Amino acid sequence: MRLLTLIGLVGLLGACSASKEEQQETTQVPDSVYLYRGDKLVAQTFDTLRNSLLSAIADKGFPHAIDFCNEQAYPLTAIYQNDSVSIRRASARFRNPNNRPDSLEMAALADFIVNGPSTKIIRTRDQVHYIKPIMMQAMCLNCHGVPDENIKPETLQAIRERYPTDQAINYAEGDLRGIWHIAFTLKR
Ligand code: HEC
Repeated sequence: MRLLTLIGLVGLLGACSASKEEQQETTQVPDSVYLYRGDKLVAQTFDTLRNSLLSAIADKGFPHAIDFCNEQAYPLTAIYQNDSVSIRRASARFRNPNNRPDSLEMAALADFIVNGPSTKIIRTRDQVHYIKPIMMQAMCLNCHGVPDENIKPETLQAIRERYPTDQAINYAEGDLRGIWHIAFTLKR
């Protein structure tokens, strides 16, 4: 009986110290691990978005794909989210007002403009933020480029119907379009 109690107690102590170690680990995980996890999440999310977008375009063309983005961009971006990981896109010249940058995102965008775009880890009290620049590619100009030159009139009309305050046009290939922002919430 005594032995059992002792074993129980040791087990309990073991459990306590393990959870303490775990806690320390979560706050001490190096930037490289978050860069790796962030890169992987962005690759998965971008693949999902791009493949769905391409099939929407192939299916019924660009104006229809605007409706598709309007309905699916948010749910598709959230596929790999969970309780402690949030994934979003933000842009200084946004199309969807929900993608307006917050102060941390604004500072990251400003930093990319001054120092050049590169993936960054930013730590705040309870979160580790992974920020990756989104650059304009030729294909994106169909919906984010120069009206008439890159964006067809019927596509522009569909954009204006869905997004009356759209700012996300007149981009050129290679421009900084915005950022991926993944926030990992730390366990304390
Ligand atoms: C078929 C038209 C279309 C194409 C092609 C397209 N986009 Fe978009 N994009 C949209 C629409 C519509 C939204 C708004 C989605 C929403 O409501 O969440 C959007 C939103 C975004 C956003 C979020 C910020 C914001 O302005 O709201 C980013 C970043 C973005 N696009 C980048 C790209 C990139 C990079 C490419 C090329 C790889 C691309 N887009 C291709 C239509 C398009």
